[in-house]
Amino acid sequence: MRSAEPPPDNPPCTAGPAPQRTQQRHGPSHPPRAVPLFARSLGRVDAVDRAFTAHPREGFLPRAVRRRASYDGPLPIAAGQTNSQPRTVADMLRLLDVRTGQRVLDVGAGSGWTTALLAHLVGPTGEVRGVELEPDLVRFGGANLAATHQPWASIAAATPGVLGDPGGVPYDRILVSAEPDELPHQLVDQLGDDGRMVIPVAGTMLLVTQPGARVSEHGRYRFVPLR
Ligand SMILES: C[S@@+](CC[C@H](N)C(=O)[O-])C[C@H]1O[C@@H](n2cnc3c(N)ncnc32)[C@H](O)[C@@H]1O
Repeated sequence: MRSAEPPPDNPPCTAGPAPQRTQQRHGPSHPPRAVPLFARSLGRVDAVDRAFTAHPREGFLPRAVRRRASYDGPLPIAAGQTNSQPRTVADMLRLLDVRTGQRVLDVGAGSGWTTALLAHLVGPTGEVRGVELEPDLVRFGGANLAATHQPWASIAAATPGVLGDPGGVPYDRILVSAEPDELPHQLVDQLGDDGRMVIPVAGTMLLVTQPGARVSEHGRYRFVPLR
């Protein structure tokens, strides 16, 4: 399934809707009416809502931008990277359909927020491994995550040139918060039986499911590049 193409004045990337025409580096590129996934389940609170409540965004932002935590757009963290737009994070987590006890890989852990949210979703019987390329963010995200007291989750430095965590396979779920031009088969191969991966590729949010590496499309978004 695929949402409508965004109009030219779309909002910035892993950021929320914004009224300007300027293209930003990442954030969803769809207007509010085209949001395919964020629509809540008719007012019912789900596991993703509970994870957001348990781990507020403020705890994953540098002091200088903490007062903007309620802004539904990406916010700068360090090394030119961002803490993703809350609406986009919620869209991705609902699509990922994380279950208690699962093993999850978080590629592009950044501020540690998605890693903490995933840890809440899997609970203490699960495991979450975040990987991040920027050394400053490995430290920042790791400290933010540690403050949530979820020792079944961790953040490690990614090895340049190595995508994901080939040594830790298989994963039940993989969340990717940076965008490649093509679907990276190295990451598809890290999914286990019945695994799911949510990844933005060339502006479109993809869900990849096993078996068969089936791919479906879930709207237009923009992210920082997967390097
Ligand atoms: C949108 S940002 C952070 C998102 C993060 N989940 C959050 O909410 O804070 C995406 C991150 O992906 C990282 N990144 C890019 N390519 C990567 C790679 N190959 N392996 C690991 N991290 C990568 C960037 O350094 C950046 O911190």
